[in-house]
Amino acid sequence: MKIAIMGAMPEEISPILEKIGTYKTTAYAGNSYYEATYKGIELVIAYSKIGKVFSTLTATTMIEHFGATKLLFSGVAGAISSSLKVGDLIVATKLSQHDLDITAFGHPYGYVPGGSVFVEADKEMIEISKIVASEMGKNIQEGIIATGDQFVANEERKNWIGTTFGADALEMEGGSVAVVCNALNIAFFILRSISDAADMDASFSFDEFLESSAKESAEFIIKMVDKLAD
Ligand code: ADE
Repeated sequence: MKIAIMGAMPEEISPILEKIGTYKTTAYAGNSYYEATYKGIELVIAYSKIGKVFSTLTATTMIEHFGATKLLFSGVAGAISSSLKVGDLIVATKLSQHDLDITAFGHPYGYVPGGSVFVEADKEMIEISKIVASEMGKNIQEGIIATGDQFVANEERKNWIGTTFGADALEMEGGSVAVVCNALNIAFFILRSISDAADMDASFSFDEFLESSAKESAEFIIKMVDKLAD
């Protein structure tokens, strides 16, 4: 087993690299990949840069070039569900692309022929995350995550995404990572901690809480890896 741990921004993986301590850095395809052995498990860690294209490239590279056999994503998200507050954790049950639109041809939002509106995450790792959460005394909410190449800071857009996809949170990478893992038959787990409410204050909230929320998510991911190593 080789586990890929992925984020989109440096803040999302630096708490993990700090915990791992020593690792080998490899430059590949315009990015840096960090490899280590942790509790007997091989890891490859990277942040992709923001958005669906960079996250697709990084997820694919981690699997096809570095040989990852499972992928865990750690990062922050904007809340859609009013039950999610800054710092809360959400684990994706399934993910969609909210900005994928060929409705002009009669297709639903988020759908292209040969694909599907939603991609489901690995059920086994979701079950493991529930055990980890109870051991940590933390609450994690399961829900639908919608992904798009937009930082959403607009109540109307956020509500549209919530209504159209039944989404509880939104971000900019999970849906594309899900497509890659699904196509390559790699079990994946997408965890996000809330940094903002995707409303008019979102950019201020994001700047204020990126680091602390990213740390919440990263700490949980490390415990997930601990559990997978048991
Ligand atoms: N990630 C965290 N907050 C977000 C937002 N409001 N829009 C898109 N991605 C995000």
